Amino acid sequence: MAAAAAALAPATPLRYKPYSTLRFLSFYSKNLTTPRLSPPLPRRPFQFHSTVPPKRCFCSVVSAALQSGERTKTEFQEKKVGEMGNTVGEFRKKLKIADIKGGPDGGLDRVGQTLVVMGWVRTLRVQSSVTFLEVNDGSCLSNMQCVMNSDAEGYDQVESGLIATGASIWVQGTLVASQGAKQKVELKVDKVVVVGQSDPSYPIQKKKVSREFLRTKAHLRPRTNTFGAVARVRNALAYATHKFFQENGFVWISSPIITASDCEGAGEQFCVTTLIPSSREATDSPVRAIPNTKDGLIDWSQDFFGKPAFLTVSGQLNAETYATALSDVYTFGPTFRAENSNTTRHLAEFWMIEPELAFADLNDDTACATAYLQYVVRHVLDNCKEDMEFFNTWIEKGIIDRLNDVAEKDFVQLPYTDAIELLLKAKKKFEFPLKWGCDLQSEHERYITEEAFNGCPVIIRDYPKEIKAFYMRQNDDGRTVAAMDMLVPRVGELIGGSQREERLEYLENRLDELKLSKESYWWYLDLRRYGSVPHAGFGLGFERLVQFATGIENIRDTIPFPRTPGSAEF
Ligand code: 4AD
Ligand code: MG
Repeated sequence: MAAAAAALAPATPLRYKPYSTLRFLSFYSKNLTTPRLSPPLPRRPFQFHSTVPPKRCFCSVVSAALQSGERTKTEFQEKKVGEMGNTVGEFRKKLKIADIKGGPDGGLDRVGQTLVVMGWVRTLRVQSSVTFLEVNDGSCLSNMQCVMNSDAEGYDQVESGLIATGASIWVQGTLVASQGAKQKVELKVDKVVVVGQSDPSYPIQKKKVSREFLRTKAHLRPRTNTFGAVARVRNALAYATHKFFQENGFVWISSPIITASDCEGAGEQFCVTTLIPSSREATDSPVRAIPNTKDGLIDWSQDFFGKPAFLTVSGQLNAETYATALSDVYTFGPTFRAENSNTTRHLAEFWMIEPELAFADLNDDTACATAYLQYVVRHVLDNCKEDMEFFNTWIEKGIIDRLNDVAEKDFVQLPYTDAIELLLKAKKKFEFPLKWGCDLQSEHERYITEEAFNGCPVIIRDYPKEIKAFYMRQNDDGRTVAAMDMLVPRVGELIGGSQREERLEYLENRLDELKLSKESYWWYLDLRRYGSVPHAGFGLGFERLVQFATGIENIRDTIPFPRTPGSAEF
């Protein structure tokens, strides 16, 4: 008994404190005439009210289930503080399916323990003598197979149709070795409780559905194998990103999301304004409501910030200010681009990682980018094995070998001028013609990394200054800048970076040449006035990294809620 109680203990989340569950129950009964989580659905097989005894309502069942166990009596001992109030309970990690099955022997070490699993029903198979429930809690790709006899407490919910695909459930049982070939352990169910039932219209059924369809169900798609795995790998990449930079002495900086400067100078910014009436009034407000000057121009002085403001396209300029004080910094945050690119590699809202290194040149920059990419790829291969196997089988055959190569082999670098020569000599016919001075198109980038260099990431350096941003450091030839783009198979450009122009007079001349206002960059120029240093950095598009690491073809499937031209759903 004591052993069983010990095994149960870590599985009990604080969220299910019996006391708070009862409060939750009283909230529902006081405020809702029909329980919100169980709408009456006439003539449906799992109809809630007519086929199920009234006592089995959502909260009372959960609270009864959780109060009945011995552990709930001792688990949350709150101390009284004076006359009123008591201390907040201790937070404990909840036992997840990943904790159970993720051990070296697939969970066999826990055989015999009584455990609780909470998750969503993926499938239900009712056979004559036994019922199989596949439950997933999102902690890993694997489900917990729950095996139930008709004598299990709560079995009537299987018969009444309450336990169906999509429903959330609480299951308690004994972990046993599985006879099935697919898993080493399974849960022999003692008791099951439906936490939230699922309407038969649940769109994520077992049959295979297209990614396009799932994009219209972005609120439910994380419950599929593919999107669950993408979310976990994305999380691992974010964790590894912070780990890499923290271990190497970089300081994380929050760059602003609203800005008055256009870092890339490409004019692809979304305006942030209160001149247009607020969202509540937006649909029926006349154009004349926008204040204008006597010359008929928009009167920005009346705007919230007193001047035009935008969503940032990059945190780089702000990161530079901190790099010239803290030496090595990085940003990791959302960036926005109003470019009308309906491609598999562009989003209007994406996350960018932007390190900035002080006392550094382009060689330091490319070395940092290479070490960073190799580190995060290695992290995912080592820590997301099950998800990576899934991608290897279902999304991109060979991705594990490809990523292993990336993590281990040297990267190639070549000057832009050589890259153009290579492309001009290529036997391949490109859609976009090329000559020195042109920007590389995706087809060129992919040819270089996928074909010319056989899948190896390639860094192209020293681009013509005319096709790059104003802040890049001019090379001695006067016509190229110390820029670099890292190209990888399938994605093309994953990283864009450069050494920054640290010489005041060069930077001012470049701003003049490009007819950019020196006044609005006054603070950026100050960095060159006061203790300027050679410095360099790069930006990596996080969703492109997720594409690269999972093999997912369309960038819209790498971010929970993609924003693209014509689409800002959810
Ligand atoms: O090459 P970009 O435009 O570089 C910058 O913004 C620099 N300020 C970065 C720096 O030096 N700190 O963008 C950097 C990366 C690209 O290489 C690409 O991976 C990604 O951001 N990116 C996009 N990802 C998704 N959707 C878009 N519309 C993207 N535009 C750029
Ligand atoms: Mg770029």
